[in-house]
Amino acid sequence: MSQNPLRPVLSHPSIAIDGPAASGKSTLGKKVADQLDWLFFDTGVMYRAVTWLALQAGLDLNDQGAVTALAESCVIDVLPASQEDGRTSDLLADGQDITWQIRRPEVDANVSQVSTYAGVRAALSAQQRRIGLRGQVVMVGRDIGTVVLPEAGLKIYLDASPEERARRRYREVIGRGESADYEHILQIVMKRDQIDSTRAVAPLKAAEDAIVIDSDQLSIEQVVEKTLTLLSEAPPAG
Ligand code: DC
Repeated sequence: MSQNPLRPVLSHPSIAIDGPAASGKSTLGKKVADQLDWLFFDTGVMYRAVTWLALQAGLDLNDQGAVTALAESCVIDVLPASQEDGRTSDLLADGQDITWQIRRPEVDANVSQVSTYAGVRAALSAQQRRIGLRGQVVMVGRDIGTVVLPEAGLKIYLDASPEERARRRYREVIGRGESADYEHILQIVMKRDQIDSTRAVAPLKAAEDAIVIDSDQLSIEQVVEKTLTLLSEAPPAG
């Protein structure tokens, strides 16, 4: 197969994992990265950080210009976990630890809208791509295989039914000792699917060469094993 001369060649492979909200992408990505001793990078946290900062600043989230300016100026850092409270990494925004704030319902309810803005996406995907091109990264998101890192050696599209995803999110929130309403979570999951997959810029969809895995009937261990097998069968990077 001939190489596209405009595309940088990765000296090490990376894995792209895309899929809808709460499909288990992050759990899968973290486990695979740990097994391979690669970096785990959940790109959704960046969209969440911008949403949280915008809410904190009292911005009108419909004001695309203001939200984009914020995304372009804020400094978002993902660092190794500094505390053993269930986090997979620390998320810092302008120096403030907002690891758990970005999981709040008001962020869940608004992040899809913020992530439709072309300027926000341009600012964040440039940072994501720089990290992905270093190789040996498991990147998780919505547009990693299609836009951010199309040269990833393995692309997985992890799917699950809205009901199963809402059940998982419900258990997660309850597990953190917070209250939750299953029906409400299901409505939000479906609304986010609709926004994420119909937006004009980088909509959620499987890359043509992605391998689609439906996780409804599979345990996380089975999905991890399948991913590692697929990686071992993937052609060498470049
Ligand atoms: O994976 P998550 O639920 O943390 O993602 C939060 C939101 O960010 C989601 O509604 C879509 C958006 N997102 C995106 O548009 N592109 C990415 N690469 C990652 C997340």
